Amino acid sequence: MERLVVVSNRVAVPSRDGASLAGGLAVAIRPVLRRHPGIWFGWSGRVAAASDAGARVSQHGHQTYVLTDLTEEDYQEYYNGYANRVLWPILHYRLDIAEFSRRDLGSYLRVNQRFAAELDKLLRSDDVVWVHDYHLLPLARALRDGGHRNKIGFFHHVPFPPPEILTALPNHERLIPAMAHYDLVGFQTEIDAANFARYLRKECGMPSRDPYTFQAADRTVRIGVFPVGVEAEKLNRLARRAVHSPFVRDVVESLAGRVMIIGVDRLDYSKGIALRMEAFDRFLSIHREWRGKVTYLQITPKSRSEVQEYAEIERQIDETAGRVNGTYGEASWTPIRYVNRAHSRSALAGLYRSAGVGLVTPLRDGMNLVAKEYVAAQDPEHPGVLILSRFAGAAIECEAALLVNPYDPESVGSAIAQALSMPLRERRGRYDALFQVLKANDVESWGERFLIALTRPLNLPNWLGQADISQV
Ligand code: F6P
Repeated sequence: MERLVVVSNRVAVPSRDGASLAGGLAVAIRPVLRRHPGIWFGWSGRVAAASDAGARVSQHGHQTYVLTDLTEEDYQEYYNGYANRVLWPILHYRLDIAEFSRRDLGSYLRVNQRFAAELDKLLRSDDVVWVHDYHLLPLARALRDGGHRNKIGFFHHVPFPPPEILTALPNHERLIPAMAHYDLVGFQTEIDAANFARYLRKECGMPSRDPYTFQAADRTVRIGVFPVGVEAEKLNRLARRAVHSPFVRDVVESLAGRVMIIGVDRLDYSKGIALRMEAFDRFLSIHREWRGKVTYLQITPKSRSEVQEYAEIERQIDETAGRVNGTYGEASWTPIRYVNRAHSRSALAGLYRSAGVGLVTPLRDGMNLVAKEYVAAQDPEHPGVLILSRFAGAAIECEAALLVNPYDPESVGSAIAQALSMPLRERRGRYDALFQVLKANDVESWGERFLIALTRPLNLPNWLGQADISQV
């Protein structure tokens, strides 16, 4: 294949301490670039004076990273502002907390143009460009305006709401139609893809050749469904080793024989962490026999702390954890262990394997790779049980999990009780079904399917999920 240029706001440059970058995007892109070494371009994560804001190149193994800083103004207006205070809540169906006063699209478009200008310096005409996530919806248009005719694909990692919600986005008519400048737009689920198709039809009056192929003024844009997977076998091997690490052994020893329930989420209101703790509260209040016998470990690295809603949710989670621990805790038992530190991939894999229950209850999530990673890490002989929100994209593939309504602490509490007392035979049956799904759609085949669809269009009605990856 031609050279691959991946573009995303956040770039996961390998770090010395091995701590993983929070968020599914980094987890998904890394293995794709291992198979197709090329360039990963994006924000350095740093804020600098305007004059220092040129891109820097660094090399790690076969992989080239090109990183650009943001100015303070861009950081506040594009990242904290339009992307995270307006777009993020609306894409997660949260019209109630979107800050409509920050309707100014200017800085968001300006940063997209600046990214395009930096890319202009390094793009070759035959490069395949793969853009990721909601920070960069109009990047293809900026590149096309600069004369680039490359194959440009876009993958939307987070939910894509129906037009009835999306049209509440200030300036949606200037932003969403720009996505038609991509050759291929990929989504996590059929629902997201259908919502985008409906937007193009309803709001833009764009004619379509078939449900997923639209004709914009001078070009064709195709829509596809590519649920992100995980490195299932590799994670299983990693977890098998990691349980013997001093760190995981310490944690397990400290449980003193109690069953561990684990939750791992970036600190975000979309993850439903406070409600999850409420559910654990209901569980302990009804199932008294489990008091003192189970520990819920919630690992939650902080993110986007400058956005008010994040500070608010942080306070709410702190309070809820404190209340539950105060109500049920004893001198020798803390029901909820709440940790804000990010952990390495290997530490997490070992913890997942040591936990009898994986509790993944986002209120809305594009996919949720923690759910898949929890399953991948399990011991096939003694697997734990995944409790999963029906509003996570992963729920579509993970039918064999205990699917729950995360808004209803009562029913999540019952699912916890069911998981903890589930017979081994049922646990194995559910695990086998889930692991098959993970193997059939691991993260490598995800990347390959997208790239095949982008570079080798096939005119078959149902081709998107079925391309033969051995051709790449
Ligand atoms: O995976 C979704 C996502 O929003 C990514 O786009 C992002 O990199 C990650 O979560 C973490 O968020 P942030 O980059 O704002 O810290």
